[in-house]
Amino acid sequence: MRRILVAGNWKMNLLQNQGAALSQALAGKYASCAVEILVCPASPYLSSVATTTRGSAVQLGAQNLYFAPQGAFTGEVCGDMLKDVGCTWVLVGHSERRQFFGEHDELLAKKVAAGLQHGLKVVLCVGELLAERQAGQTEAVLEKQMAGLAQVSAEQMANIVIAYEPVWAIGTGVTASTEQAQQAHAFLRGQLKSRYGEAIASATRILYGGSVKADNALELLSQPDVDGALVGGASLKADPFIAIIEAGIQAQTQKS
Ligand code: 13P
Repeated sequence: MRRILVAGNWKMNLLQNQGAALSQALAGKYASCAVEILVCPASPYLSSVATTTRGSAVQLGAQNLYFAPQGAFTGEVCGDMLKDVGCTWVLVGHSERRQFFGEHDELLAKKVAAGLQHGLKVVLCVGELLAERQAGQTEAVLEKQMAGLAQVSAEQMANIVIAYEPVWAIGTGVTASTEQAQQAHAFLRGQLKSRYGEAIASATRILYGGSVKADNALELLSQPDVDGALVGGASLKADPFIAIIEAGIQAQTQKS
């Protein structure tokens, strides 16, 4: 049974006080929770969010890391630093990193490996552009992006989550239909099966991201291969994010 994970990617939003208020609201409500909850603030605020969420069910993740263990890499942050400030998770390969910062699969495979080496759980993000979907290339693109797992052993897969985020659905208000999401997730699970076998494929969580809101979360999370949500805009305020967590709890109950 896969435990649903509801993750908020705050991206480059929320100043310290805003992030503290939001994380306090979440931590206050969820001392424990039937689903896993994760928030990923901007890196300057990881420490302050760690302080407000400590001892609650709200886990802390970073939005990015660099693969080198330390050294002369101006502007970058390594896995040890993320662990040091209280992160247990890191996002790797978000489409905004791929699109705006030129991150490619070879680099991302190194980042995934570095995150795992430093004891972090890694959310590897994949997803096709609109033009790629329209050209019928969705599965080819997803298969190629799964190369982010190139250095991940079967044992390490327990600390990997995949996030399917179709780029055309991110921040656009256009959500993938439940059929589109389920189809892509089933394809990704098939990819996991061919890489790691049936047991690992069926144990690995695959999140959906792209305009997840309170009113579409339950339907998406009820799909058999959708094991959680990676939420952008709707994770920036307590009420809509809590509504998505509650939808996760309901979906978890339905599935068990
Ligand atoms: P939105 O929920 O704002 O579409 O963003 C999705 C996303 O990119 C989460 O990582």
